[in-house]
Amino acid sequence: MMPPTTTLPSGHTRIETAALQGISKRFPGVLANDHVNFDVNAGEIHALLGENGAGKSTLMKILYGLYQPDEGEITLNGEVARFHSPADSLTAGIGMIHQHFMLVPTLTVTENVALGIRSGGPLLNLKQVRKRLIALSDAYGLKIDPDVYVWQLSVGEQQRVEIVKALYQGGALIILDEPTAVLTPQEVDELFVTLRQMRDEGHSLIFISHKLYEVQDLSDRITVMRDGRVVDTIANHGVEQRTLARMMVGRDVQFQPDRPPVTVGEVKLAVRSLCAQNDRDLLALKEVSLEIRAGEVLGIAGVSGNGQRELAECIAGLRPATGGEVILNGHSILSLSVQERLQSGLSFVPEERNRHGTIGSFSVAENAILQNNDAPQFLNGPFYNFEAIRRYTVDLIQKFNIKTPGHETLLKNLSGGNVQKLILARELSRQPVLLIAAQPTRGVDIGASEYIRGVLMQQRSSGVAILLISEDLDEIMALSDRIAVMYEGEVVGVVDRDDADVETLGLMMAGAQRA
Ligand SMILES: Nc1ncnc2c1ncn2[C@@H]1O[C@H](COP(=O)(O)OP(=O)(O)OP(=O)(O)O)[C@@H](O)[C@H]1O
Ligand SMILES: [Mg+2]
Repeated sequence: MMPPTTTLPSGHTRIETAALQGISKRFPGVLANDHVNFDVNAGEIHALLGENGAGKSTLMKILYGLYQPDEGEITLNGEVARFHSPADSLTAGIGMIHQHFMLVPTLTVTENVALGIRSGGPLLNLKQVRKRLIALSDAYGLKIDPDVYVWQLSVGEQQRVEIVKALYQGGALIILDEPTAVLTPQEVDELFVTLRQMRDEGHSLIFISHKLYEVQDLSDRITVMRDGRVVDTIANHGVEQRTLARMMVGRDVQFQPDRPPVTVGEVKLAVRSLCAQNDRDLLALKEVSLEIRAGEVLGIAGVSGNGQRELAECIAGLRPATGGEVILNGHSILSLSVQERLQSGLSFVPEERNRHGTIGSFSVAENAILQNNDAPQFLNGPFYNFEAIRRYTVDLIQKFNIKTPGHETLLKNLSGGNVQKLILARELSRQPVLLIAAQPTRGVDIGASEYIRGVLMQQRSSGVAILLISEDLDEIMALSDRIAVMYEGEVVGVVDRDDADVETLGLMMAGAQRA
């Protein structure tokens, strides 16, 4: 550890202690924060854990000045601070990296960083911003090119830009709201190196995650929230995942789903020599062939960016194929529209659920029937049957434990994880022939993950063919019957789950070995 200095290498003044005291925040129908106490010290990583909708983001948005608390106060080094907007908290040295990135895709990295600087005046010097940005990214080992456009970056790279931006602007205390949700395991490792360095220099870090092993690995203290309240704050000395899970959920959690034996049926999906390009017009799928039978889960393992997304999108009709064939239930579907494919029995849980699949300004109920809105069950002659839609939505809300004041609440007011649960609920309740599930438990809490994995296993038992795309090898191993590994747009091997071991899969994912 370095001796305490008041100025950090990034140029900001240390915040010895930042504390939220007796914070309450009410939204229509929910008490999101109920007399919450939370503090973070310089040189500490304090993790904030809790199920979807527990109130984590709300609490952090209060510290960041985005929301005003109804009750309670913020103190910095013992003195009361009032933040009327993020401009105030930034001035005080507090930065936040949001759950959903807030970069402008059509601007360069430098322009995005410059965009958030309030003190520069109208004649902000982009050259200077660029220079300091390069210095910061060097100092923290965050590889980024200041001159590329944000739309050209992978999510991991966008994450790095967000961190440099937060270091640039705020700096002393940085809030990271689920920073690892969209990162590959390698990117998570790199991020943790940076975060540990920042901690050792005397930054204060608040880290929100649903992944218990990450919290165990990284944090000095852990605070668990449930239903808007703090359950406890503990020092991280060898605390067990089971204990954390129980604190979060309020009961024991089953980490491995039951996988009953299933007799597989006929081939439901056949993909033959499928080729496609990615968003940068490069070849992303190179003659991919695979089959999935009724009652079978084919897991696709691979580091993201190796063609998994393009494969799912091609089958779902969101991306044109440049060659090959996709046969669903015996019929070629490549010439069908997205809607026609859905009607032929395809369900798709996309990876980027905030971009595809929901409309924030629509209600929960409208989103629940979004792709199915002309189904007879929701109609009454030419009109909508609002009672049927309400009943259907309320049923989904209950089954998937979606935290929302009601079915008429606008989707944008739900917490991040609850939006995900709604999409999953919708897609999983359509009794499909083929279900494509891309990263189905990413960003959802452990209670919901347990439920989702259980639902996938039920669907398998009822004869649905499932294409599971996941970067989480434990999830792939827990759910799949067969595992295909993708590397650079090719399927480099398909193995039976019972013959698979994590090490060999890892080597195949890294391109070092073929089955
Ligand atoms: N702007 C808002 N308007 C209305 N309700 C809101 C708003 N923001 C949050 N809520 C509600 O407050 C509660 C807490 O939400 P919050 O986003 O803080 O949860 P979270 O712990 O961050 O969950 P997640 O892990 O899913 O991100 C939820 O019930 C949510 O629906
Ligand atoms: Mg949140």
